[in-house]
Parts: sequence; structure tokens; C-alpha cells
Amino acid sequence: MEHAPHPLILGIESSCDDTSAAVIRGPQVLSNVVANQALHAEVGGVVPEWASRAHLSKIQPVVQAALDKAGVAAADLDAIAYTLGPGLQGSLHVGTSFAKAMAWGLDIPSIPVHHMRAHILAHVLEPGLPPAYPFLCLTVSGGHTQLVKVRRPNDMEVLGQTLDDAAGEAFDKVAKLIGLPYPGGPVVDKLAAQGNPEAFSFSRPRMGGYNWSFSGLKTQVLNFLKQAQDKDARFVQDNQADICASVQTAILDMLMAPLIQAVEDTGITEVAIAGGVSANSGLRARLAEAQADRGWTVHIPPMAYCTDNAAMIAAVGWLDALDALEGTLEASPSPRLPALTSLAQPKEG
Ligand code: KG4
Ligand code: ZN
Repeated sequence: MEHAPHPLILGIESSCDDTSAAVIRGPQVLSNVVANQALHAEVGGVVPEWASRAHLSKIQPVVQAALDKAGVAAADLDAIAYTLGPGLQGSLHVGTSFAKAMAWGLDIPSIPVHHMRAHILAHVLEPGLPPAYPFLCLTVSGGHTQLVKVRRPNDMEVLGQTLDDAAGEAFDKVAKLIGLPYPGGPVVDKLAAQGNPEAFSFSRPRMGGYNWSFSGLKTQVLNFLKQAQDKDARFVQDNQADICASVQTAILDMLMAPLIQAVEDTGITEVAIAGGVSANSGLRARLAEAQADRGWTVHIPPMAYCTDNAAMIAAVGWLDALDALEGTLEASPSPRLPALTSLAQPKEG
């Protein structure tokens, strides 16, 4: 018996400040176009109103570019998957409206997608080897930090999470304190590679269970810099790399502790990382170390699938389609969506 070919899925992502569209066929990514919004850098953070306006002007050309790059026509598509939340309300509205209208016009299903579930399931995309179930996933982005036990694509349990700031936010806030441009995570990463991680010491508070708290670290760094600058006005300029290395190593120690604990408690050694902070070279090195020293099988996404991208959204669309799930035109975006389950429903008939 012949297997049906994988469906051709268009993914659309517009939850924050990146407009992205991708076309996949099963695990194969045919195109993944991301348009960044550089305009936010000048104010050191994402301005929601600007973000939604930029999405509005970029979404059509970005979708067209994704189709062109994949060499497919809109009429060839089998479904359109899009981010319904969590994210910025106005930004989500742009992607949601565009995706639903396009699917309606083409008379194909639209599939609403949970952004954080998509970060985790990006691991099913080639060229990586998908993790075996069950696996543990450390999802670290600008808005979330979660430790998730993934039994199946549609059966996930949040074991722990941050009680305040996300790990990416900690990177970004510290970067801002030392005068680095937004988003600070990648810049801290680069500078940290040239600095001494033991130059300055910051405490690494542990919360109960598998939870984190990062807001104290920001306050600690703020107080430390104030005192140091009182004595030496050039302290920050002269010690940027050492500050970055010391802060990064503290964040990584904090991130790794509950993950190591969870592997010990559950006996699950299949471990993945996901989200923007999984682009961090220090975190990638820690995982590689754990693979060598602790016998974990680690899954580190290719860089293009770490930060926000539409290929991961399309991947969820594909997995939901396999489960015969699809969305309705009533789906309405939400900045907060707690459960990491599918947002689609069983197909009628
Ligand atoms: O997943 P993502 O692209 O967007 C959200 O859904 O939040 O994550 C963005 C976050 C930002 O906080 C950014 O500074 C951080 O990921 N990030 C990094 C690195 N690349 C991006 N943090 C540390 N090191 C990096 N190399
Ligand atoms: Zn994200």
C-alpha cells in the first residue's frame, strides 16, 4: 500500500517582533523566511504598537517570499498553521487574521498553534533527529522559561517554570544595564566568550521544585554595578566581557540545576532545549558536556529554529493534521495561553 504524501503546510508566526512564514512538507523545511524588525533596537525593547504595524506591512511579502522560495503556489497548500498565542495581542491579530483569511480564500483548513509548544516541537524538523518520547525540554525564550515533560506531541506536562522574569529577559535586562543594544542575549553571549566567568560572583538562588526566579539576579547586578561605578566611573566599559561572562555563567548554572534534578528524578535522559536562549553558545556547551559526562542524549535545534520562526509553527500544523485536528475561523488570539496542548479540534465528519 502506498503512503499518502505529507501535506504541504504554510506556517505563519507574528507573536512578537519577527514576521515569519515557512513552507514544510512533513519534516522537510522547503522555506523559512524571517523578517526582523530593527526599529525596536533604538528604544531598547519591543514597542507593541510598532510591532503590529510592521507585521501588517511585512506579512504579505514575507508569505509570498516563503511560497516563492519553496517553489510552490498558494493553491498547492493543504493547510495554514499560525500562532494564536501567547504573544503580543496586536501582533497576534495580524498573523491570525491573515492566516484565517488566506485559508478561507483557498478553502483549506487553518490550524491555530501555541507558540511555546511550537518551540518544543521544532525538534521534529530536519536535519535533526527527533527526540524519542518521552523527553524533557528546557524552553528558554524572552517571555518564558519552562521545564516540560513531553510524553507525546499533544501530551505535555510543565514540571517547572520561572516565577518572575524569563531567562532571555534576564539576559536582556543585564545587557541594558551595561549599555548593550536590544536584544541583549546574543551580544552578552559574544562578549562572554572573551571574558572570565569567575571575575565577579553572583549568587544563584534556587526556588522549590523545578522552578526558577531571575529577577533577583538583575537587582544583584544593578547593585553591584552601582557600587563598582562609584569607585571607578569607567568600570563597566573596562570590564564588559568579564561582567558578561560572570552573569552568563550564573544564569546557566541556575538554568541547569532543575534540569539535572529532573533527569535524576524522572530517569528520562532524552533532553532537548528550545527557544531563543537555546541559541546561547554557553548553554549549548553545557548540554554537550552533559551528553558526554552524564550520558544524556541531547537535542539542540539548528540556530534558525531556536529564535522565533514559522517553520516550527508549520511543524505543529503538520503534527496536528496527523492527529486529524484543525481550527475554526472563530479562533481568536490570546496573549496568555497556559496549557501546552493543541488549540485545534477534531475534524468534523
Ligand atoms: O524565542 P525568542 O526568539 O522570542 C520569544 O518568544 O521570546 O527568544 C528571544 C530571546 C531574547 O531574550 C534574546 O535575548 C534571547 O532569546 N537570545 C539569546 C541568544 N539569542 C537570543 N540569549 C542568550 N544568548 C543568545 N545567543
Ligand atoms: Zn519564541
